Amino acid sequence: MAIKRALAVLALASSLLVSPVLAEEQEKCGQASYYPSEYTCYDDKTLCPIQFSLPTKPCGGGCYSPEQYSCEDGTIKDLPEATSPFTLTFSGVRKTFRNLHVKACGRYLAVGANARECYSCAASGGTNCGSYQNSTVLLPGGQMASDVPGHQFWYVNPTDGILRYTEALASNATTWNATIPGKEFAGQNVKVYENGLFTWTREDATTHWWMACLVTLPGGTVGTGRSWRIYAPTYVNMERGDCEIGRIVAKAVDRKAGAYKYP
Ligand SMILES: *[C@@H]1O[C@H](CO)[C@@H](O)[C@H](O)[C@H]1NC(C)=O
Ligand SMILES: *[C@@H]1O[C@H](CO)[C@@H](O)[C@H](O)[C@H]1NC(C)=O
Ligand SMILES: *[C@@H]1O[C@H](CO)[C@@H](O)[C@H](O)[C@H]1NC(C)=O
Repeated sequence: MAIKRALAVLALASSLLVSPVLAEEQEKCGQASYYPSEYTCYDDKTLCPIQFSLPTKPCGGGCYSPEQYSCEDGTIKDLPEATSPFTLTFSGVRKTFRNLHVKACGRYLAVGANARECYSCAASGGTNCGSYQNSTVLLPGGQMASDVPGHQFWYVNPTDGILRYTEALASNATTWNATIPGKEFAGQNVKVYENGLFTWTREDATTHWWMACLVTLPGGTVGTGRSWRIYAPTYVNMERGDCEIGRIVAKAVDRKAGAYKYP
């Protein structure tokens, strides 16, 4: 319920109904007044809304999200789908949820100050552990940028909509075809734009936003969570009240920015 309400509010934010910053000074853009937390003024004449703390830009009389489109001679065009390895950042509305690096640890992808980024490497069989930079890097199509035998895969878990990745097989594993839970869902229903949005397609629509939901330790009270896991906005998840909504943006990086293994 909370998420649906927040979305409705966002849809209305183009009016001056909501001013997220208390006592924020209005500024002038030509004749128009605006709140700089909600709009960007271009050339003192065009106002474009800020969505999930990401500015949109003017193009041919409208505004576009540069994470999804490019503007060529006044025409808005789709960005190409990602072909490069990429890292991800989550951008929500609140200041504390802006540009958060998405980190892999324990088969979950999470954000927040307490989210850990886990990686490992066992030097054997010619593996040069020093050649990995150990960032959380994903590949288009569903693999993690890891080099373990059998590979690791990222996926949206169909039962709960959580963004996860698969375990790594042991380096001496002989059954590389072994069924790794989650592997069969690798990259499914997710479309990634090159240096742009990471989107998820539900049965009825493509969503351009995700949810970061607080993880509370077993037996802990709310607020003692270690991190915010990433959830796809399934109808069930949208009923949750303990989540931040935001966009996830991919940034192209070198494959070697990844790790040997994401434990
Ligand atoms: C990445 O992790 C491996 C294994 O822990 C380590 O050997 C390597 O030096 C790390 N790379 C960097 C750039 O820190
Ligand atoms: C792989 O190595 C682990 C730990 O060294 C060992 O317990 C396991 O039996 C090995 N598996 C195979 C298939 O050799
Ligand atoms: C693994 O899969 C490949 C291709 O699907 C197949 O040719 C091979 O026989 C399989 N190996 C094992 C050990 O199952």
